[in-house]
Amino acid sequence: MVTRNGRVTIRPARPEDAPAVAEIWRRGWRDGHLGNVPEELLAARTDSSFDTRAAERTGDTAVAVVGDAVAGFVVAGFVMVVDDEVEQVYVAAEHRGTAVAAALLAEAERRVGAAGHERAWLAVVGGNARARRFYERNGWIDDGPFDHHAEGPHGTIRVPAHRYVKQLAARD
Ligand SMILES: CC(C)(COP(=O)(O)OP(=O)(O)OC[C@H]1O[C@@H](n2cnc3c(N)ncnc32)[C@H](O)[C@@H]1OP(=O)(O)O)[C@@H](O)C(=O)NCCC(=O)NCCS
Repeated sequence: MVTRNGRVTIRPARPEDAPAVAEIWRRGWRDGHLGNVPEELLAARTDSSFDTRAAERTGDTAVAVVGDAVAGFVVAGFVMVVDDEVEQVYVAAEHRGTAVAAALLAEAERRVGAAGHERAWLAVVGGNARARRFYERNGWIDDGPFDHHAEGPHGTIRVPAHRYVKQLAARD
């Protein structure tokens, strides 16, 4: 589904979006995680790891594009959804504090609901105050601390995090 919200358009990612998604992910990951995660996870998130994962995950990704036909469109952010989990929410620094993040999160919630789930969840590290504030403003509730198991090159890495949940609107 493609939705339009002012100048923000949300659409499924295409393979050619992967480099832009990787760049937003690489930079945004540092903004949200430096100082907030174990060293082992920091070491695992090499620059090239974001290129690999962005390309592999196109099918789970929706992007926000802003602009118009004259000025051209740029990818301003993305979300990745798997089953009932909103796995990634990233907005390029120059598009934060705009309508982009909320439009992406709404699309992520729509995807979870469309897959038949009544409740969505996500993991956020405790020190990522901006993301936590953003989720809370959008109706997500802190369900408490838990050990998130992040994917690393040699298996999973234990990352202390908070689980956030949101009850989705009931569907007929
Ligand atoms: C998380 C993210 C998608 C949110 O999008 P955004 O456009 O920045 O969100 P908003 O600006 O609408 O909302 C952020 C809120 O945090 C507040 N905030 C900003 N900086 C903050 C800080 N350092 N500490 C606490 N709150 C902060 C803002 O004032 C705003 O709250 P308000 O609505 O009460 O004013 C975006 O910041 C991002 O991509 N961050 C880097 C990647 C990341 O951490 N992703 C989430 C991984 S779980």
